[in-house]
Amino acid sequence: MTDHERGATLSSRADGPAGSGVGHAAMRAAITFDAVRKEYAGSVAVDDLTLAVRPGEMLVLVGPSGCGKSTTLRMANRLVEPTAGRILLGDEDVTRADPVALRRRIGYVIQDVGLFPHRTVAQNVATVPGLLGWDRARTRRRVDELLELVGLAPDRYARRWPHELSGGERQRVGVARALAADPPVLLMDEPFGAVDPVGRARLQSEFLRLQRELGTTVMMVTHDVDEAVRMADRVVVLSAGAHVEQLAPPLEVVARPASPAVADLVGRGRTARLLALGRLEPGDLVTDAHVAGASPAPDPAPAGDPVRLGAELGDVVAALTRAVVAPGAGAPGTAGAAATALPVVDDGRVVGTVTAESVVRALHRLTAADAGAAGDAGRGARR
Ligand SMILES: Nc1ncnc2c1ncn2[C@@H]1O[C@H](COP(=O)(O)OP(=O)(O)OP(=O)(O)O)[C@@H](O)[C@H]1O
Ligand SMILES: [Mg+2]
Repeated sequence: MTDHERGATLSSRADGPAGSGVGHAAMRAAITFDAVRKEYAGSVAVDDLTLAVRPGEMLVLVGPSGCGKSTTLRMANRLVEPTAGRILLGDEDVTRADPVALRRRIGYVIQDVGLFPHRTVAQNVATVPGLLGWDRARTRRRVDELLELVGLAPDRYARRWPHELSGGERQRVGVARALAADPPVLLMDEPFGAVDPVGRARLQSEFLRLQRELGTTVMMVTHDVDEAVRMADRVVVLSAGAHVEQLAPPLEVVARPASPAVADLVGRGRTARLLALGRLEPGDLVTDAHVAGASPAPDPAPAGDPVRLGAELGDVVAALTRAVVAPGAGAPGTAGAAATALPVVDDGRVVGTVTAESVVRALHRLTAADAGAAGDAGRGARR
């Protein structure tokens, strides 16, 4: 897409009911669920859901199978009609909108992909541009660009039929199709579930880059807690009946689960997740006096590759580990290794020393019950 086209898409988007999608400062929500309920014969899939999705945010829904995640997404674009309550897209009540027009404005990646079997990969991706009357050259460019983005070389894949693809490839075509017309709002139900771990990580970061660049508002469902904490600006943990157990930035959810259900969900592997999400702060650094047992204290600062203040805790652990095995640092497992310390720099100045104790302090700080909101950094917590 040329800058001109992108500009045109963005400016036409600004006239749409969901607003420009750009800028977190915008006051009104992009999508509002107001006391929404959905009953199927005899059962309640969504009990009483109130939720505001902020413009331009990546909101990720996690929760056990059958808790109402897909039902919630499908109500936003009227594939499912709520039994009670209101859903607004910007200021507009979706239950009064024309469903077909609505679906052109809201991209949707469904749980089971749902490619059109009698249309090629390129034709599938071009579905919404076709409905919007884009000319052939523009459509073709957009299709090629998106297939590249999801890692499917256009010359190899554009003319294939869906049955000639693997499950993961089909899913990637589904993501490309949903993105084709730069919708201001995107609903994604387990969009990367069938993609292998390496392809998945690549797709996640490419997708985030694009989402950030375009300011797309995304509601995504996943079973994968790591995917949720990696991608989300805010995570919504749901239990049966789409009951909101916690709605907070990823670090907050992992560091301080609001209920036993959330603790169950994030508990396994919690320390590893905290290392990935948490950052080194000034209070975690040790002063010379605090290098317990180290004798004598490093002066003026320890040698070794410096660590940046604000670095990801996992990277700090890796740097300390490298320092332990570095020549001259003492053999691993010896007394020398126990005192491993590295200088910490901020703005090019050495501001203190980091040791393994610092990492323990940081983890303690993050999980302390009386700590402030751990995840208020929001997007800043993201890679
Ligand atoms: N068309 C339907 N008719 C009757 N019950 C339904 C229908 N669709 C969903 N349900 C029920 O509503 C509840 C919520 O379903 P939903 O598909 O929203 O769950 P989910 O959270 O997406 O689960 P999963 O993680 O397994 O995809 C489930 O108990 C399900 O059986
Ligand atoms: Mg589902």
